[in-house]
Order: sequence, then structure tokens, then C-alpha cells
Amino acid sequence: ADPDPLQDVCVADLNSTITVNGFPCKRNFTFTPEDFASMGIARPGELNIFGTRVGVANVFNMPGLNTQGVSMARVDFERDGLNPPHTHPRATEIIFVKEGTLVAGFITTDNVFVNKLITRGEVFVFPRGLIHFQFNVGRGNATIIVGFNSQNPGVQVIAISMFASRPQIPEEVVARAFQTSIEEVRAIRARLALPT
Ligand code: GLV
Ligand code: MN
Repeated sequence: ADPDPLQDVCVADLNSTITVNGFPCKRNFTFTPEDFASMGIARPGELNIFGTRVGVANVFNMPGLNTQGVSMARVDFERDGLNPPHTHPRATEIIFVKEGTLVAGFITTDNVFVNKLITRGEVFVFPRGLIHFQFNVGRGNATIIVGFNSQNPGVQVIAISMFASRPQIPEEVVARAFQTSIEEVRAIRARLALPT
């Protein structure tokens, strides 16, 4: 989904003071082979409150991806671990189940819920920008390997965006949107309160 490259390589200068769409390129011949490599998905990421660990290999830890329009991730699920409903505004996502059994689901803009039990060896695609999740329903842990057609897919976790933004969305707005009470909005917020 990213724009096409206009040169062979444009290795991201992540420390540049210039801001552009993506990153400015390092000067010719100042990049290294390491810029085209990442250990970002070599190991599981940090455990989150949903029982999953997300690791990424994107332009932020792999500067050679700048302008190339792809990146990867891995998600490791504890038993019952959930990668909660979220969207990637800039990418289609394709996943490969390395281990385990999960329910993969997405919701179309017509609010059709598409979901499937997927298992080791299976590949599943989440169409660009749609809300989706994966839920470990197997007996043990699960691991998926993820591909994106963006160097920086972006992620918005719906529950976090609605209930744990900084600063907060007015409680009245969230309460009205979910047709619930201010008290319940506060209770959900407290349960989702993330370490800063
Ligand atoms: C999986 O859905 C991911 O976004 O890493
Ligand atoms: Mn995703």
C-alpha cells in the first residue's frame, strides 16, 4: 500500500531533522549491510495485558525497508492469548501459523464478520485497514509470522484507542458512542490503564 520507490534504495536516516513522507535517505554509500537486516522478530516481544507478545521488523529497526513497502512481525500467544481487535491503516496483513490453533477474524465495512479456525501451516489474509484479531483457542501456545505491504503499517487497537487515549476522549463521547454510562466508561478505562 506504500508509494512506489523512486530509486533502488533509500535507507532511512532515522535521526534526520528533515521530515518527509517516510524517512529521508542516508547519503549514498553511507549505508551498511546491517541496514538491510533486523533481529526484530528473532525472539518473542514483551508480554502485554492480553496474553500476547508482538515483535516487529519494520522501518524503525530495519532502515533498509524505507520506500520498499513491506515489513514483518511475529505474534506469540500464551494459552488463551488474544491479539485484540485492531487495524493497520496502511497495510494488508498476511499471516502464517507457525505453531498452534487460532481463530482469525475480520469485520468488513458492511459489518460482516469473517472468521476461521486456522492451524499450523495455514496462511490467512486480513484485508487492508479492516478491524481484525487473532485468538489462541488451542491447547498450548501459538506463534504467527506476519507480513505487511507497508514499511510502517501503523496499528490502532480499538479498545485502547477508545478507552486509553492520551489525553482522554471526553467520557460523554465514549459513553454515548457505546450507549452506556459514564461509570462503565470509567470502569473500563481503569481496567485498561496501561503503564506509561
Ligand atoms: C497481527 O495481527 C499483527 O498486527 O501483528
Ligand atoms: Mn494485525
